[in-house]
Amino acid sequence: MVIKMTEIINKKLKNYILQLKGDTTELAKAMDYSLNAGGKRLRPQLVLEFAALCGGKPENALPIACAIEMIHTYSLIHDDLPCMDNDDYRRGKPSNHKRFGQSTALLAGDALLTLAFEVALNDEAVEKLGLEPARSCAFELAKAAGANGMCMGQALDLKHEGSKITAKVLEEIHAKKTGALISASCVMGCIAAEATVDEVEAARQYGQKLGLCFQIIDDVLDVTSTAETLGKPIGSDIASGKTTYVTLFGVDKCLKLADKLTTEALELLQSFNGNTEPLVNLTKTLLARDK
Ligand code: IPE
Ligand code: IPE
Ligand code: MG
Ligand code: MG
Ligand code: MG
Repeated sequence: MVIKMTEIINKKLKNYILQLKGDTTELAKAMDYSLNAGGKRLRPQLVLEFAALCGGKPENALPIACAIEMIHTYSLIHDDLPCMDNDDYRRGKPSNHKRFGQSTALLAGDALLTLAFEVALNDEAVEKLGLEPARSCAFELAKAAGANGMCMGQALDLKHEGSKITAKVLEEIHAKKTGALISASCVMGCIAAEATVDEVEAARQYGQKLGLCFQIIDDVLDVTSTAETLGKPIGSDIASGKTTYVTLFGVDKCLKLADKLTTEALELLQSFNGNTEPLVNLTKTLLARDK
């Protein structure tokens, strides 16, 4: 029987929550609620696929794959708060703050962010990766999540709400709020497999292309999809007065741009010697995604 990669990721994520002395406290329940609510698991899949592509054992990269999904989930919990995008629905369920209240949602996000570094640097992760690759992965994760990465992107996104911004500024926001974690996922997979400097660089660039493409399609789906399919509200960007790729260029041009970025991302995969087929398929699937 073939076990799907997402099932392996989901099982491991659940285990980390159970290790918090079970999921009995309100805080652990709130963490579990969002972390184990589904989600596409794109970022951990990228970690594992790049590790495999570069000749490593995906199993060894599983802790850092889970770490980045924890950070992504924390970013979603906070992104939905009334002080940010004020969205009541996420991953097909009421948002964390709707279910647990704002203070617990805030802390569940904080605790997932902290747990991410715990699992990226605990004995298991270090034994699996070796000390230097584990350190290097944690460093990439911190840089991508922090004040020059995802948090900065979110800050700029909120700062420019209600005002029209140029394509250049929007590209920077998207690159930081979404591209940084996606690119770091690819890089960490390579580091876990002790890949060459050139491979790491190609993975970083691939991740930047894919990340921008992913957020452009997220902007499109906000106007073309349904809440049932997406598992989150539609029309949220318009309601909060955001400039998006759709408001700047319209849906058709967005899809052309996404197509171009996908082609460029696929070209970058050609610089790897290993079997790129799983990543080629994943890249193409993301272009055609409806959620
Ligand atoms: C949503 O990310 C936020 C963005 C960066 C666009 P995903 O679309 O990966 O959300 P999940 O993980 O599948 O819920
Ligand atoms: C969020 O972008 C990116 C994050 C860092 C969470 P969006 O605000 O567009 O994500 P969704 O549409 O709420 O998932
Ligand atoms: Mg947002
Ligand atoms: Mg949002
Ligand atoms: Mg969005």
